[in-house]
Parts: sequence; structure tokens; C-alpha cells
Amino acid sequence: MRIKKINVHLTEEEVDARIRELGAQISADYDGEPVCLICILKGSAFFTCELAKRISVPVELEFMSVSSYGAGTASSGVVRIVNDLGTSIEGKNVILVEDIIDSGRTLKYLLENLKTRNPASLKLCTLLDKPDRRVVDVAVDYVGFTIPDQFVVGYGLDYAQQYRNLPYIGFVETEE
Ligand code: IMP
Ligand code: MG
Repeated sequence: MRIKKINVHLTEEEVDARIRELGAQISADYDGEPVCLICILKGSAFFTCELAKRISVPVELEFMSVSSYGAGTASSGVVRIVNDLGTSIEGKNVILVEDIIDSGRTLKYLLENLKTRNPASLKLCTLLDKPDRRVVDVAVDYVGFTIPDQFVVGYGLDYAQQYRNLPYIGFVETEE
């Protein structure tokens, strides 16, 4: 499969405006309490950093990298922790930050894994949600945008490790 065209779905301005809203909502919800944002690399790197800038309560940034996909656009269902957190999250108010929830398998696995580490609370924030593709149930606390069942790139999201750097979110048009 080759990429023929990328059609802008959400502009940089639209994404930034929504991230400001999410940041304000999180700041209000945590009401002065510190939060620990766990960025799931690599996809949520751009989103997590922009979100962190819009949160007014104290923020701790942590990173974790998992692999759930090969080079294509279909879920393998296999989740692997490639790089684990470098610190304990015990007793912390944790927000897991994802780029996109598709089948939900990655998040279900991660949530179960992180719960065993005894955080004070554990919430989920995703930039994009594709509910039509859900295979396993996950409760999402903060959603940037709900999108239809189409493959997207940009703002951290990749196709075979490319296009993460696009400042907008676009639908991919492919040709065989
Ligand atoms: P899930 O386990 O099926 O929910 O997959 C979640 C992961 O799949 C995300 O963190 C992304 O890395 C990847 N993914 C799912 N849909 C897309 C997409 O439309 N574009 C780019 N990556 C995607
Ligand atoms: Mg990916």
C-alpha cells in the first residue's frame, strides 16, 4: 500500500484549541492537586507536551513506550512494553495519555498493568477516539475528538513511522 494523498481532517488550530479546553478541564478537575501524565510513546508525544503546557496544576511527565502494531494499519492485538516507566507511580494521580483509541487493546493492557502499581487514581485521556473500531471496552475520561473509522496520521500519529511531524491530523488515502 502506498499513500496517495493526506486529506486534512483537523487543522492545527482546531487541535490546539481543543487541547486548551482539555487542559482547562483537567486543571479544574484536579483542583490544585499534582498530576502525573504518562505519555505513551511515540504517538502521544506531541499531544502530551501540548496538553502539559495547558494544565495549571503541577505536572510530572513520565514516558513509556509500547508496541502494538507492525508497519501496517491493522491491529496485531499483541502489546509489548518496550520501555517501562523510570519511576514509581504509587500514590500519584495518574493520567494515561494516548494518541488514539482504536480496538482498545493497548489501553486495556496498559490500564491493568498500571493499576497493579497502586496509583492514587488512574484516568485516561486520548486525543482521538475511533469508537466504531472498539473490540474491548475501555472507559475514557477525556477525549479530544471522536473520529470515523479511517486511518489518520499527523500530530504524533504515524503510518510506518512517518508523518508524525505533520502539525494537523489527516485522513490517509492509499492506493495498492
Ligand atoms: P488499539 O490497541 O487498537 O486501540 O491501538 C492503539 C494504537 O494503534 C494507537 O496508539 C496507535 O499507535 C495505533 N493506531 C490506531 N489507529 C491508528 C490510526 O488511525 N493512525 C495511526 N495509528 C493508529
Ligand atoms: Mg503507532
